[in-house]
Amino acid sequence: MNTDSNLLAVEGLSVSYGSAKVLFDIALTVGPSQIVACVGRNGAGKTTLLKCIAGFLKPVAGSITASAASLVGLPPYDIAKLGVKYIPQDKKVFSDLTVRENLELGSYATKDYNWEPVTTYFPKLKTLMDRKAGYLSGGERQMLMIGRAILGNPKVLLVDEPTEGLAPSIVSHLKNVFRELSKKSALIIVEQNLPLVCAISDKIYAMNDGRIVAELANEASIRVEVCEQYL
Ligand SMILES: Nc1ncnc2c1ncn2[C@@H]1O[C@H](COP(=O)(O)OP(=O)(O)OP(=O)(O)O)[C@@H](O)[C@H]1O
Ligand SMILES: [Mg+2]
Repeated sequence: MNTDSNLLAVEGLSVSYGSAKVLFDIALTVGPSQIVACVGRNGAGKTTLLKCIAGFLKPVAGSITASAASLVGLPPYDIAKLGVKYIPQDKKVFSDLTVRENLELGSYATKDYNWEPVTTYFPKLKTLMDRKAGYLSGGERQMLMIGRAILGNPKVLLVDEPTEGLAPSIVSHLKNVFRELSKKSALIIVEQNLPLVCAISDKIYAMNDGRIVAELANEASIRVEVCEQYL
C-alpha cells in the first residue's frame, strides 16, 4: 500500500569504513504497511545501509528519520526502543541459551512479554522453547531471529538476507509471514531471491557500488527480468 507519510526516511546518506567510502548519497523512504526491498550485487553496500539505519555505523553525511525523530547519532538500543528493529545477515543467536531465553532477552528492553504473535507466525518455535539455540537448524534460527525482532510490535523491521541458504518450504512460509507482518510494521528487506522480492515488494531499490541506481515502484517495473539487470 502506498501512502504519503513516511515511517522512515533516509536522505543524502554517505558512509565510510575508515577512509574507504562505501555508501554515496543514499535516499530511500518506507511508508506504513509498505515492504521495500534493496537488491544488488555482493559488496553493493546493502548490509552497510541497514547497519547504519540501525545505529551500528555512524554516517559521514546525511539524515535518517523515523516518525520525525532523527536516528543519526543514537545508539542501537535507543533506535530499537523507537521501534526500528534490525535482523542481521549473520543469524547470530545466543547459542548456549534456550529459545525461550533468547526471546526473553529480546523482550528485555521493551518489557513486552506477549509472545503470542511470535508463536502464531512460527508455531514450530513453541515446540522448541527449551532447546539450546545453538542446535537450531538454519530455518529455525531465522524464525527465532524474526521472532525476537517482532516482540513489542516494531514500527519498522530491517531484515538482511532472511532467506539465504534456506529450503523452499521455509522461504515460502517467510513470504507469507512478511506479508502478514507488513499489515502492522513497515519492512525494509535486503534479499537476493528476486521472485520473492517481486512477489512481496511495494518498491525496490537497486544498489550498485554504494549508490542507488534504480527505484522500481510500479507493477510494470517490479519484475524479475527488470531486477536482474541490476545484479
Ligand atoms: N567492517 C568493514 N570494514 C571495511 N570495509 C567493509 C566492512 N564491511 C563491509 N565493507 C566493505 O563495504 C562494501 C559494502 O559491503 P556490504 O557488506 O555492505 O555489502 P552487501 O551489499 O551487504 O554485500 P553482500 O551481498 O555480500 O552481503 C564492500 O566493499 C565491503 O568490502
Ligand atoms: Mg550483506
